[in-house]
Order: sequence, then C-alpha cells, then structure tokens
Amino acid sequence: MKFFSLLTLSLALLAKDEFFFEKPYLQLGDRPTIAAQGALDLMWLGHDKDVDFVVEYKSSGGWLKATPKMVRRVDFKGTEPHRVYSASLEKLKPGAAFTYRVSVGDQQLIEASSIARKATNANTRFVVWGDCSVNTDDQRAVAYQASLIKPDYIFITGDIVYNRGRVSEYQSNFWPIYNADQASLKTGAPLLRSTPFTGVVGNHDAQGDIDLAVNPDPLAYFHYWSQPLNGPTLSLDHKFVPKFKGDDVVKAKFLEATKLTFPGMANFSFDYGNVHWTVIDSNSYVDWTDAELRKWVADDLKAAAKAKWRIVAYHHPPFNSSKAHGKEQRLRMLADVLEAGKADLILSGHVHNYQRTYPLTFQAEPGFVLGKNQQVPGKWTLDKTFDGVKNTKPKAPIYIVTGAGGARLYNQEQTNDKSSWQEFTTNFVSNIHSFSVIDTTAKTLTFKQISAEGKELDHFTITR
Ligand SMILES: [Fe+2]
Repeated sequence: MKFFSLLTLSLALLAKDEFFFEKPYLQLGDRPTIAAQGALDLMWLGHDKDVDFVVEYKSSGGWLKATPKMVRRVDFKGTEPHRVYSASLEKLKPGAAFTYRVSVGDQQLIEASSIARKATNANTRFVVWGDCSVNTDDQRAVAYQASLIKPDYIFITGDIVYNRGRVSEYQSNFWPIYNADQASLKTGAPLLRSTPFTGVVGNHDAQGDIDLAVNPDPLAYFHYWSQPLNGPTLSLDHKFVPKFKGDDVVKAKFLEATKLTFPGMANFSFDYGNVHWTVIDSNSYVDWTDAELRKWVADDLKAAAKAKWRIVAYHHPPFNSSKAHGKEQRLRMLADVLEAGKADLILSGHVHNYQRTYPLTFQAEPGFVLGKNQQVPGKWTLDKTFDGVKNTKPKAPIYIVTGAGGARLYNQEQTNDKSSWQEFTTNFVSNIHSFSVIDTTAKTLTFKQISAEGKELDHFTITR
C-alpha cells in the first residue's frame, strides 16, 4: 500500500502539468517608471492549446480580475511548442503585499503572493547575481539563500542561461530552479512566482552572429522576459543588433514572435523605489564608444539626477582582477559618462566570482581608439580613503563583479593572493558562490555579499 501511494505521488510529480508549461512568474513589464499604481506583469507558459485562464488578484479588499493575453507562440526545433501568456496586474498598491491566483473553470491552478512595485523614493531591498543557470547545486543554493533574504526584486547581471540562452535550456536550467515548488539548498526556491526578476543579457544569452542551423531556438530572453522598452532605438539591420543565418524560415518565425521585444529590450532603464537603473547590453557586437549610444546613457543618467541612487548594470566588467577575461576592457570607454552622470554602483558579471573596486575614475589614453583586442590603456584614480565603514562617502563610482551565481568559479587561487590583484581591487572572493544584497534608504546604501552558505563575505555602506 505504502509502495503504491509513494509510486502514485512520484508519478504525479513527474506528470506534466495539464495547463502550465511553466508556472507563473512576475515581471516589471514595459514600465520604466512607476505609475500611480504598483503594476506588474504576471506571466506564465501554457501548452499549445486554447485555454481560458482566469487571473484574480487582491492587495486590500476583494479579488480583482486581470485579463490574460496570449503574447506569443514559441515553436522551435528541440522544444515542445508552447504559448507565453501575460496578465497586467494594474491596481496594486505600491509596496503592498498582494496575492494572486490562476484558475481554469472551477479548478484553481496556483495561488502565490508578492509585493507590488515600490513608489518613487521608497526604501528598497534587492538581490543581484549573474552567470547562473547551469542546473547545478551551487545555483540552487544561491537561489535558496536569496529567497531567505526576501528581496523586493532580483537583478541578474547576465549569462542568465547557459550555454546559449536557448528556449530548450531555459527548460532545464532556469524554470525548475528559480520556480521550484519547494525551497531548499537542493531544489532552489519558488522565487519567480513571488519576486519580480529583472536582468541584462550576457554573451551566453545573445550573440552577434547566430547560425540557426546550429542553434534553432536562440535568444529566449526576448520570448520570456518583459522589461522596459525605453532604450535607444535600433532597427533590425543596425550593426549593433544580432544577425541570423542558416534558416530563413526560423529567422522569420523568431522575428514574428519577438516583434515587441527584439532588439529593443536589450537596453533600457527603470526606477524602483529610490533607485534608478541604467541597463546596457555590453556584448561585443555593440560599440559603446558610439556617440549616439553614449548620449543615450548620459541623457538617461541626467534625467535620473533626482533619484536617491543610480546603478548602472552590464555584463562585462571593465575593472577586473581575475586572470580570466582580464583583457576584455572595452566598457572602460564608458567610464567618463558614468562618472559625469554620478553613478553610485556599476554591477557586472561575466567573471565568475565576487570583486569590489575602490571608488575610481578612469581616463583612457588621449586619442585612444578601441581596437579588436578590447584592451583600453589609461589611468585610474582611486579613492583609497573610502572604506565603507568609517568613511562612507566615496568620491567616485564603485565597480562590482557579482558573477558567482552558479556557474563554475574562476581563479579560486586568487582569493587570498592580493599580489595577483590589480591595483583598483579591494576585495576578491572566488572560493565560494555568492550573491549581492543591497538595501537603500534616502541616506544610506548598504551592500553585502552573501555566500551560498548564507555567510557574509563583504559589507560596505555609502551615505549621502
Ligand atoms: Fe559572460
């Protein structure tokens, strides 16, 4: 009897969900700023059949209905065809807890809770990591520890899904870990359904030349994510936009499915509470020395002059002490724009460890032109008086590498070997996976790096 009930249970767990291809997840949607309401998009994946989903939500008072829309069909080689749904939860009270449920007919499929987007100037807590979805215990441990922090939202600094950001790879490496039904070190956590995810593409999520004969389901980011679309306008044939070869039918299908998101969702900005984010695609097919792109960043930061905190996020760190990727310095060419725009923190991944610089300014060699080798000679000026404890007023932006979210760690041997670090690095931890926790109030920004074991690895505070 016991055997049979266990068997039934296991079969039930293994059985495919009748309605969900993947369970619900929360996104900011195309909302760069918070409107009067703390609206969010509730999304999920359904099987490739017509279903009348019903979405209801409530923060205070009774249940309200949201209207689900089928956003696109995803039908590529190597994956079962499925559909992306989205329902806009419009009438949420900023910063307040809310509950939602999804049903079909009389059958309730799921109920979960979250916090509505916070109003301008509200205090926030968010979690950041990168280089993560590889389906490892390290990834699951980071997800679990992050769930204990109860962040308002999560930001991923790129290389969201290995090895090529494909639709099929989301199915094995992303959804099961970040939307696990149980929270534990060995399973991950039900984060996606309870915490809005934000993020930026890395080199594993998007490539400049995509051969559809080899990779028929690429750029899944543009199918599944829903983030602001307020970045620079780049047409499909623009040189800074990924190109396709190998299969014109697949290309047409991809472009049709992603006509609302590709390529616009690669660069954008948004406000969450008292923080302004500028999010940049730093892949090598984009040249950030381009005058128009530099102007977009400068204008975006200028428009955010009143925000309490300004964070710039992109995948490739320009100031990196790891022997791995040490020569990929092209984003140094944007340092002057970020300094002028008074960015507080620059968050990157790509390098699979944790690093913090002194507050620094950088000047490229006069007349230097970025070449193929990606190295950028120049001069940095370090604010060594800032320690984040006694002196909490940095004179320049601080650059963080937080790329230890799950993939194999880089250069573990450099952790305690200060002689191997570049002069601009003040902290370097590469012997354990980790993530960043940032708390912001009007006067303080507190940064902590927490290990996959839940231990604090680094801590600093910035005050106004
Ligand atoms: Fe990377």
